[in-house]
Amino acid sequence: MLIIEGISKTFGKGSINEKLAIDDLSLAVNKGDFISIIGSNGAGKSTLLNCISGVYGVDSGSIVLDGIDLTRLPEHKRSKYIGRVFQDPLRGTAFDMTIEENLAIANTKNKSIGLQRGLNKKERDLFREKLALLDMGLENRMKQKVKLLSGGQRQALTLFMAVISKPKLLLLDEHIAALDPNAANKVLALTDEFSKTPDLCTLMITHNMKVALEYGNRTILMKDGKIAMDLHGKEREKMTVEKLIAQFDIDNDRMLL
Ligand SMILES: Nc1ncnc2c1ncn2[C@@H]1O[C@H](COP(=O)(O)OP(=O)(O)O)[C@@H](O)[C@H]1O
Ligand SMILES: [Mg+2]
Repeated sequence: MLIIEGISKTFGKGSINEKLAIDDLSLAVNKGDFISIIGSNGAGKSTLLNCISGVYGVDSGSIVLDGIDLTRLPEHKRSKYIGRVFQDPLRGTAFDMTIEENLAIANTKNKSIGLQRGLNKKERDLFREKLALLDMGLENRMKQKVKLLSGGQRQALTLFMAVISKPKLLLLDEHIAALDPNAANKVLALTDEFSKTPDLCTLMITHNMKVALEYGNRTILMKDGKIAMDLHGKEREKMTVEKLIAQFDIDNDRMLL
């Protein structure tokens, strides 16, 4: 489904700050995979997602999603196939617009029609029905501005907006890191649910190793711009946070729990 072959990315080439952030990385993601990505600060996790979504072009290698070669496509063209959620709950939504306006924008992302015509009853009913699934009471607040929502509610809405246009790939970069434990659990449960959408691939960066092992079907550890460990199946089932930490000690690596 997602085939990444030999990609590399260097920042500040030729400068004193030159940094090889992604180093000849290859990764094949199957349809329906939900992969958690861990690794210490600076390992290249965010850069990997940014290379996939087109924020950065790669220096070499290729990225192919469901047969579509993304490698040279600009970010806005890739966004048709990719939903994203970041750490900052302020980043994914239009702050000063209402919940339903935000949903309408997300819903028209892949369609040629604009927002100007406003929302019709059918759309509003659809949004209300879908929002109710979040179980946060947002279906009764559709005309309220997003800025009135809590961080957890906003992140749940952002996640929902990221999948409403039926992307092939969902990229999550520490999307629960800024939330309190309750909200984080709620958003994680939603993530788990959305990740079960048929054929959707999900890549989730987290610094929480317990979460990384509990959610999804595969866990990748990044180190120095490479994949240092790729756990799935039985091997992953047997893995514990303690063993992971021991592994980090061997690598003399540092990671927050
Ligand atoms: N836009 C950028 N310009 C220069 N260096 C960058 C940029 N983005 C990331 N880097 C560097 O690339 C390396 C990997 O960063 P990043 O992918 O953000 O790591 P992680 O998300 O795993 O913490 C780091 O050394 C970081 O400083
Ligand atoms: Mg990062």
